[in-house]
Amino acid sequence: MKAIDRVKLIGFPVRGDERGKLIAVENDTDIPFSIRRIFYIYGSDDKVVRGQHANRRSEFVLINVAGSCKIRVTDADGETRVFVMDDPSVGLYLPTMVWKDMYDFSPDSVLLVLSNEKYDPDEYVRNFDEFLKGKTEGADR
Ligand code: TYD
Repeated sequence: MKAIDRVKLIGFPVRGDERGKLIAVENDTDIPFSIRRIFYIYGSDDKVVRGQHANRRSEFVLINVAGSCKIRVTDADGETRVFVMDDPSVGLYLPTMVWKDMYDFSPDSVLLVLSNEKYDPDEYVRNFDEFLKGKTEGADR
């Protein structure tokens, strides 16, 4: 399967009642990996582009829990998809070795990111041309 076709939106069940809403995300059932890291991005705006890399080992699920942002995903064949993230009940699953750009953040955007791996700067691919040419080691899935 093409890497871009492994990118998918995941809808989480909303457990709402008269007190408000709650979403629970559990390893292996709601998301397709075991979570080893959580980080969140906030305080960005519509002028910045974040991400701009691929990861050899990290998979991600990104959930915009407040506000909105856009995520552009590109695979090594240059195929691109853009996702508007504005719903806390929807996550975007990214497999390894896809290039991502996050942009168009609303001032109140909080982008929650779950990953199967701890942070390791050495597993980042930061050169887009090399990524596109598929020259990068580690594209094993
Ligand atoms: P960076 O990779 O530039 O963020 P983005 O992908 O959103 O553009 O990371 C910003 C800073 O945070 C940088 O100093 C590395 C650090 N960082 C961690 O310490 N742990 C992490 O899990 C991540 C994603 C970043």
